[in-house]
Amino acid sequence: MIKTLLKSLREYKKPSIIVPILMAGEALMEIIIPFLMTFIVGELQDVAEGVKGNVDIGTIVLYAVLMIVCALLALYFGALGGKLAAEASCGLAHNLREDMYNNLQTFSFANIDNYSTSSLITRITTDVTNVQNAYQMSIRMLVRAPVLFIASIVMTVVIEPIMAVIFAGAAIVLGIVVAICMFKVVPYFRTMFKKYDTLNAVVQEDLTAIRVVKSYVREDREISKMKAASGEVYKYSVKAERILTIMMPGVMLVMFIVNIIILTVGSNMYVGNFAGSIEPKEIQTLIQYSAQILTGVMMVAMCLNFISLSKGSADRICEVLNERTTLPKPAEPVYEVKDGTVDFENVSFCYTQKKDVTVLENINLHIKSGETVGIIGATGSGKSSLVSLIPRLYDVASGSVKVGGIDVRNYNLDTLRSKVAMVLQKNVLFSGTIAENLRWGDENATDEEIQFAAKQACADEFIQNLPGGYQYDLGQGGVNVSGGQKQRLCIARALLKKPKVIIFDDSTSAVDTKTDAMIRAALRQHAPETTKIIIAQRIASVQDADKIIVLDEGGIDGIGTHEELLKTNEIYREVYESQMQGGGDDNA
Ligand SMILES: Nc1ncnc2c1ncn2[C@@H]1O[C@H](COP(=O)(O)OP(=O)(O)O)[C@@H](O)[C@H]1O
Ligand SMILES: [Mg+2]
Repeated sequence: MIKTLLKSLREYKKPSIIVPILMAGEALMEIIIPFLMTFIVGELQDVAEGVKGNVDIGTIVLYAVLMIVCALLALYFGALGGKLAAEASCGLAHNLREDMYNNLQTFSFANIDNYSTSSLITRITTDVTNVQNAYQMSIRMLVRAPVLFIASIVMTVVIEPIMAVIFAGAAIVLGIVVAICMFKVVPYFRTMFKKYDTLNAVVQEDLTAIRVVKSYVREDREISKMKAASGEVYKYSVKAERILTIMMPGVMLVMFIVNIIILTVGSNMYVGNFAGSIEPKEIQTLIQYSAQILTGVMMVAMCLNFISLSKGSADRICEVLNERTTLPKPAEPVYEVKDGTVDFENVSFCYTQKKDVTVLENINLHIKSGETVGIIGATGSGKSSLVSLIPRLYDVASGSVKVGGIDVRNYNLDTLRSKVAMVLQKNVLFSGTIAENLRWGDENATDEEIQFAAKQACADEFIQNLPGGYQYDLGQGGVNVSGGQKQRLCIARALLKKPKVIIFDDSTSAVDTKTDAMIRAALRQHAPETTKIIIAQRIASVQDADKIIVLDEGGIDGIGTHEELLKTNEIYREVYESQMQGGGDDNA
């Protein structure tokens, strides 16, 4: 896991290596400063005890200057280390986000089905931030703290071994105190992060569906859902923070107790029973070292805990980074789609998460280039699944799907998808102008080409009536146009690709019958060589097709023209009759 994460370091490897060295330098300076101090205190002590007549100002100035130099160096190392650590960790976060996003773009529909949108958002935002913080802390502390700890212990041993034993004891006690606190805090934090997930999911779902929420007057329920989710985050962060606030005074308490011990034991050693084995100047230095030893212990303990805390986030990031597309690239990709023939040979298909449910079974189907084919079937009969195999949104479980006589798995994916246009059942437009959105079909389309495509999709007229025409801004997700207008824009966008096969997955459901017929007539006239596959609810939409496929529970129930099916296919006849009774058009 760490290897996967560190792969994203790239240009930030160098600072990541320099930071620990700088931090170790800072720690060493912090060790030297108290040591230099002993010389100044010693000088004064000598005068006070009458060993020396006057204070040697020269000596004091020398050590004072040395101390200032060390302090400045410590400042320099610390500041530079801090700056580089920030650069390295922010850089890691930046690269991680980029890598996750890049990998996300290679995901197939099957890959995408494995993640919820909100979980992907949390992974790219909060989880990366957690890892960034843990990484910054690690490169700053994990070398610095042990250096501080070991060097201080060594210096203490040099001055007075007994004190070193006392410090080690105190360090163990402190380590245990911090460990216990962290042991209690970490689970709270873990739960808190999980609750964040829920919170993100609630907010995301509510915001993307805000119009539905309003039309069903569900605002109050959404507010209380949000309140509950936010309340859970509050509950666990308060619990965690409470323990953390107790921890600091606890650490200070241990430090003061150690100070008292140093002073008691030290003064005994100076004037009491063991007189002469220690001097005041050393006691003063030891107090500083004790603080550094204990800080070192605390930092390591906190650091390890933050790392363990971010492990969950790191796992979730790696999951995205390591996810490989379920659509393997062919060894020798084909870069040209010859024509619009489509063949299904013994095709079976199931969705990866529901392997036991066969969505399509043993489909055999041959569509000639330029044909118009209608697909009729109840919801859930597998219509969308069937057509999604043609532009290879999913791969078959067995059998093969061919376009232009070649298995779709042998095409370069971009080539295939640029020649097989699909107007999805749930289609999306992006913020930006109408022209920008239509150019998704063909970046280099001229204004005339755009208008021509729009005309075929019966969209030109309403576009001309919008303020600004083709420069009209659609707003996020294309909210500024009606459902039927949106569908027509999506059809125009697909037509601009000049595809060999165009698939309409219930794409004219929100368009009135007359416009629907006009679009079909325009396609017949202007795109005679393009294979047109039309999934529809209305018999009227497919009636004049070259052949109509009736799907039922993942299998083909009948294929034929309208007249043939009326005679031979019971399902088709039933649908037709029910729509006739309803006035011929159930959707208008
Ligand atoms: N992304 C998906 N993951 C899992 N199952 C799915 C997915 N999409 C559709 N299904 C299931 O596959 C079956 C066929 O669905 P679909 O092809 O969308 O039918 P239709 O378009 O005819 O309404 C349904 O049972 C549906 O629940
Ligand atoms: Mg469908």
